[in-house]
Amino acid sequence: MHIGGLRIGDRARLAELLVDTGAFHADEVDVALALFDLTHGGSASGANDASVDYEFVGAFDGDQLVGYACFGATPATEGTYDLYWLAVDPVAQGGGVGRALVREVETKLAGRGGRLLVVETSSRPDYGGSRTFYARSGYVEAARVRDFYAPADDRILLTTRLTTRDGGVATR
Ligand SMILES: CC(C)(COP(=O)(O)OP(=O)(O)OC[C@H]1O[C@@H](n2cnc3c(N)ncnc32)[C@H](O)[C@@H]1OP(=O)(O)O)[C@@H](O)C(=O)NCCC(=O)NCCS
Repeated sequence: MHIGGLRIGDRARLAELLVDTGAFHADEVDVALALFDLTHGGSASGANDASVDYEFVGAFDGDQLVGYACFGATPATEGTYDLYWLAVDPVAQGGGVGRALVREVETKLAGRGGRLLVVETSSRPDYGGSRTFYARSGYVEAARVRDFYAPADDRILLTTRLTTRDGGVATR
C-alpha cells in the first residue's frame, strides 16, 4: 500500500469506493464527488490545483485506489483545518489504511504550520466504528451540539493538535 495524490482518472473508482462503504447517502456521495471535480476538473495535468480549498490524498494497493481523505483550510482561522471526508474500501478496512491516511494529512499540515485538525461526526450508533477509529487515532471530543442533525442525533466535533502550543510538532 502506498499513499499518493489523486488524479482525474481515479474518479470512477472513488465513486465506487464511496458507494461500497455503505456509510454515505447518495446526496453525500454527490457532494464528495463534486468536491473532487472542483479540485481536479480545471487542471490540465489532472493534478491537484493549489488554488482551491480542498486537497485529496489516496491510498493505493498497486494501481487500485483503496481509500482517500479530503481536507482543507478552515476559512477565517489561523492554522485550523477540516478533515471533510475519509473513506476506506470495506475490503481494505481494519488493515491500517484509514490510520495511514489521517497520519499523512496530519504530517502534511504540521509541515506547513497547521495547528488544529477538526473532524465532524454524529452520535448515532452506526457512527460508533468511526468514532472509535478517531479516538484510537488521537482525536478528542471538543464540542457537541445535542439534537443537531435530528432528535437524539448530536453533532460532535473532534480535534487533534498538529503542533504543540509553543509551535513544536505534536507527538502521537
Ligand atoms: C472509519 C474508517 C475510515 C477506518 O478506516 P480503517 O482503515 O478501517 O481503520 P484502521 O485499520 O486504520 O484502524 C485504526 C484503528 O481504529 C480502529 N477501528 C477502525 N475501524 C473501527 C471500527 N469500525 N470499530 C472499532 N474500531 C475501529 C482499529 O481497530 C484500529 O485500532 P488500533 O489503534 O487498536 O490499531 C473506515 O472504516 C471507513 O471508511 N468507514 C466508512 C466511512 C466512514 O465512516 N468514514 C469516517 C467518517 S466521514
